[in-house]
Order: sequence, then structure tokens, then C-alpha cells
Amino acid sequence: MTTETPSRRPAGVLIAASILDSDLAALGDEIRRAEAAGADRIHLDVMDGRFVPNITFGWKTIEAVRRVTGLPFDAHLMIAEPGRWTNEFLDAGCDSITFHVEVDAPQVRPALERIREAGRSGGLSVKPRTPLAALDAYRDLLDIVLVMTVEPGFGGQAFMTDVAEAKLGPARGWLAPDGACEVQVDGGGKAETAEIIGRGGTDVIVAGSALYRAADMTAEVGRIRSIASAARTATLQP
Ligand code: DX5
Ligand code: ZN
Repeated sequence: MTTETPSRRPAGVLIAASILDSDLAALGDEIRRAEAAGADRIHLDVMDGRFVPNITFGWKTIEAVRRVTGLPFDAHLMIAEPGRWTNEFLDAGCDSITFHVEVDAPQVRPALERIREAGRSGGLSVKPRTPLAALDAYRDLLDIVLVMTVEPGFGGQAFMTDVAEAKLGPARGWLAPDGACEVQVDGGGKAETAEIIGRGGTDVIVAGSALYRAADMTAEVGRIRSIASAARTATLQP
């Protein structure tokens, strides 16, 4: 575990590397490669074939790769029953756990409370067509709001500009501006979309295929961060 928490809200936009489209036969090396390239976090996309039409890996895999890096582990649970598995993902060493507001409601509040009790950061994600208003009932428990700019399930999809324009600014404004909560954007994050993401006041960009398919991952991390950070600074200045 690390000491980095969302409440610090650094001046620059943070880059979370999604390992979904990395070479899974060499997952440990791929995580080290993202760290060496300057990524701030490792984003772990967990899918169960129920909440989304794809299956990836679970907490045992996360536990196994926890030892290869000191970077924060940011779990994104695209599973139907996050409440059932919260303890396993906490025990596996996730620093933050975000799951979807679209799951069956009774588990949502207890799971967020459990994550907070464990001293980690908890968040909720909204699919592209889910309004931010769905988060209202949980505002007191949110450390992270994760705005999906693709339909969850697969890497390498096209960024939904309309969703970013409609939701990012309002999401940042809806949250306390004191840095107690962060906005993450997930899906289609790359240099070409970094300006609009930063302009929305986004704190963290998740990037998968843009990093792992790049000829030079270090350069790509730097490009995304600098473009997004400049746009974010211009937006947040009074
Ligand atoms: C999609 C995942 C994303 C995805 C990002 O369901 O939640 O984290 O891996 O991949 P790219 O950056 O390729 O859109
Ligand atoms: Zn994700």
C-alpha cells in the first residue's frame, strides 16, 4: 500500500495505466513497464461476464502482482456483486476500489462503508448513459467518481466526446472543490482526447491501449499528462 490518496489533488493530471490490453503472459513486467514510463497508478479492470460481456481476472491475480510495484493499485470492478467481494479486493492490496452505481442498490452503501473503514478510497462509476444524479444518494461516501467514456467491457474503443462534454465539468462541480474527492475518466484516454478531458477538470485519466500500443510508452504518458494538465489548469483557474 502507498500513502498517495485522492485528497492530495496534485496540480497535474494523474495517469492510471490500465493493464487490460497489456501482454498478460508477462503481467508483472508490463506493470513495471508502466511504472518506468511514469504512470502514477495501475488500473485493474475486473470483469465477471455478468455486469459486462467480458471476463478478465480477479483478486487472486491482483494479490499476485501486488508485490511487483509500489504504485497505488486502483481496482475498477465491473462485476454484478461488488458487495460480495469487497473484502477480497481489500485484502489483495487495492488502494482504491471503484464499482458501478448500476449494480443492485442494497450492496452499494455497505460496500463503500467497508472500503472507508479499511482506510482505502472508494468510488462509484457511471456508464455513459447513466446520469450523474444516480450518485446523489452516495455523495457522503465517495472518494472517487469514475466517468466512463466508453461502454465498459473492452479496451481500445472510441472516446465518447459527447459524454465527456456533458458530464466532466458537472461531476467536478458537484463534488466538493476542496480536494476531498477526485474525478477519473476511463475509456479512450490518449493524447488526442487529453485536452477535452483536462478541460473538464478531471483529476485522473485511465489509459490502456494508448499506453500499451505506443511505440514509446514514456513519451505517451508525458504527452497525455502535459496536454491534460495544461487544459485542466486553465479551466480551474478563477
Ligand atoms: C473498459 C475499461 C477501461 C479500459 C481502458 O471497460 O474499464 O479501463 O481498459 O482502455 P482504453 O484506454 O483502451 O479505452
Ligand atoms: Zn477501467
